Amino acid sequence: MSTHDRLLRVGMVGYAFMGAAHSQAWRTVNRVYDLPARVRMSLICGRDEPKVAAAADRLGWDGHTTDWRRLVESDGIDVVDICTPGDSHCEIAIAALAAGKHVLCEKPLANTVEEARQMTAAAAQARSAGVRAMCGFNYRRVPAVTMMRQFVADGRLGEIRHVRAVYLQDWIVDPQFPLVWRLQKDRAGSGALGDIGAHIIDLTQYVTGQRITGVSAATETFVKERPLPAGSSGLAAQADGNGQAMGQVTVDDAAVFVARLDGGALATYEASRFATGRKNALRVEINGSLGTVVFDLERLNELEFYDATRPAAEQGFTRILVTEGEHPYMSAWWPPGHIIGYEHSFTHQMRDFVEAVATGTDPTPSFADALQVQLVLDAVTRSAELAAWTEVEPALAELAA
Ligand SMILES: NC(=O)c1ccc[n+]([C@@H]2O[C@H](COP(=O)([O-])OP(=O)(O)OC[C@H]3O[C@@H](n4cnc5c(N)ncnc54)[C@H](O)[C@@H]3O)[C@@H](O)[C@H]2O)c1
Repeated sequence: MSTHDRLLRVGMVGYAFMGAAHSQAWRTVNRVYDLPARVRMSLICGRDEPKVAAAADRLGWDGHTTDWRRLVESDGIDVVDICTPGDSHCEIAIAALAAGKHVLCEKPLANTVEEARQMTAAAAQARSAGVRAMCGFNYRRVPAVTMMRQFVADGRLGEIRHVRAVYLQDWIVDPQFPLVWRLQKDRAGSGALGDIGAHIIDLTQYVTGQRITGVSAATETFVKERPLPAGSSGLAAQADGNGQAMGQVTVDDAAVFVARLDGGALATYEASRFATGRKNALRVEINGSLGTVVFDLERLNELEFYDATRPAAEQGFTRILVTEGEHPYMSAWWPPGHIIGYEHSFTHQMRDFVEAVATGTDPTPSFADALQVQLVLDAVTRSAELAAWTEVEPALAELAA
């Protein structure tokens, strides 16, 4: 049993969809994994006092506040967990890092490349004082995804030729669905592209170890005006009383692009909120000279593997059930075959973050990694506007450490 004497007091900003998912993970992580630090769910922040008080009670936080600055500056907080829309990530993260707090920030890192650069610079500066920062691309921590990366790193796929990635949802197909923050550029940065496209950009770059260097993209906003919302949380919302007041949708509903990766692979990406019937369908296929791997989030305990080095008569897709003790993250959970789900990826994320903070190592994905994703998002947006092949701007070398 390792020592649990180090305490990490967490303060979380935002208490809705990701706030609930992160709360579950913070609550669970020490119960499942043996870690060099113990987490305390100290303070939660939201703007509405009665609602944040109720959330603190429901989600298991010691206290609550309506002022994120109070949380960030509190002597009683060691870690700041940012679960708000993208328009507040930059300000909160930079203030938290300046106050010497370790930061976990939800994806996408920011709404613009400029903000992401500022955050990455702040993280680099804080790092010299032993302060850690990480971006929450949780799908990296689905065991089958982590295993995909190992297959690639071990050379089981040979030369990577193709990456085929889709992330499809349908929650705004109804034109009467209200104009929530995710449909406003000043709040979300972009639409399907930054919200779900960012996940498949990060996931495929992580799995292949290759970075996207250039893209050719098309984006579309199918429904350009929507009723103003009365309230929203995560992907659900209610229209305001009369449903008459309308507002402009200022982000993409869907983004598709082809890309080149720096290891020579050719890739296709599709992110849409208009894929009727597809609720949260993330699927990635990677074809290499020696084999293929396929991951489908709706079957997240499984990995499909085609091993082209086997005798021709025995070749075929193998379904690997990723629940053995030797599979990534799985030894602490249940006996083989006792499957896990979406929420576990967040527990794995907290495990790795706590471990890094407690042992003084750098957690990944770093803010620099997330800045690189932001640069890809920016290239996709520019390519779609120009209808032209567009190179991804390189991150500054000194920030890419
Ligand atoms: N990793 C994932 O799979 C995943 C999934 C969904 C969302 N996200 C990301 O998580 C973040 C939040 O998304 P969500 O779906 O939880 O949104 P949400 O609308 O469900 O919740 C946002 C929360 O932030 C609070 N908030 C907003 N502005 C605030 C401010 N200035 N000060 C304090 N609190 C404020 C709101 O009150 C609410 O509690 C976004 O960056 C989003 O992209 C990640």
